[in-house]
Amino acid sequence: MASKFSWDSEKKPILALAPMEGYTDSAFRQLIKKYIPEVICFTEFTSADALKYNSKVSFKKIKFAKTEKPLIVQLFGKKPEHFIEAAKLVEESGAAGIDINMGCPAKKVIGSQHGSALLKNPELAAEIVHTVVKNTNLPVSVKTRIGFNSYDKEKLQSFCLKIEQAGAKLITIHGRTTKQGYGGKASWDPIYQIKEILNIYVIGNGDIDSPETAVKKLKNLDGIMVGRATFGNPLIMYHIYNKLHPENKNDRKLPDWHTLAKEHIELAVKSKGEKRAMLEMRKHLAVYIKGFPGAANYRSKLVRVETKKEAFELLDEIKENSPG
Ligand SMILES: Cc1cc2nc3c(=O)[nH]c(=O)nc-3n(C[C@H](O)[C@H](O)[C@H](O)COP(=O)(O)O)c2cc1C
Repeated sequence: MASKFSWDSEKKPILALAPMEGYTDSAFRQLIKKYIPEVICFTEFTSADALKYNSKVSFKKIKFAKTEKPLIVQLFGKKPEHFIEAAKLVEESGAAGIDINMGCPAKKVIGSQHGSALLKNPELAAEIVHTVVKNTNLPVSVKTRIGFNSYDKEKLQSFCLKIEQAGAKLITIHGRTTKQGYGGKASWDPIYQIKEILNIYVIGNGDIDSPETAVKKLKNLDGIMVGRATFGNPLIMYHIYNKLHPENKNDRKLPDWHTLAKEHIELAVKSKGEKRAMLEMRKHLAVYIKGFPGAANYRSKLVRVETKKEAFELLDEIKENSPG
């Protein structure tokens, strides 16, 4: 039996792939892990309520390939008792850890008191963590933001201390408030201050778009989580990891964008079937060619592809006409 995952034994600084609904599915995670196995991947958020009520769609979302291990499954919800069943299913799936979403700013999510709405209800947030910790053998973590409407140092510190006391082993903080959504710039100072007062691991997140920014922003933290910069450029994780771990003499042979995009398609088709995979791949393909001459024209074609064959032919044509 594989040894149990623990955040303690993970090499620091940790490099994590952010959970991103509609993007970081099994295919994308497999692609990242193939070239950068050191990355810890988080799944897209999955509803604890839906898992409890046997939703097939949600169950599919927590299915993954062996190569993605150790994988952290992210759950969202507000009913502590629903997390018990959900945590059991996650544990049975062979996942390495459970992350609880307390950061999602989407109106639909916070409207039903899920996601970052929990920042306004620290007691419930802590009760959820405590319930999951009591009912699973997996390490539990939380992902949140620096505040709801605004950043308030005392409020955030008190929230994070409650999460720690409830038994979480790690907390990831996105340096924006809920109100900011994804606009403006992420503030990292509140994250460094949180690290100073907690005993558990703290990962920083927000706007990391190069190996240099990752190193600059790390400071006293235990790791960095990267999201949007991986769109169309999953290999950025290789370069970030190497910069964070200069002792690691990685010189793996990396594929070009064209090979990578095709591999991504193959993995998606394998996990979701061609029809659904090609619909979902459209947005990814459009960003693989960002900045190429004639990209706008190709993009309008890529977002209409329906079959793998069609996509491959178009990618071949783009490669032939692209510089290097
Ligand atoms: C399309 C999209 C989907 C996201 N889905 C989730 C999610 O399911 N769970 C979560 O905790 N955060 C989610 N996030 C937030 C990211 O995990 C991350 O915190 C945010 O994008 C900031 O990091 P970045 O600047 O590196 O992208 C999502 C972000 C985007 C852009």
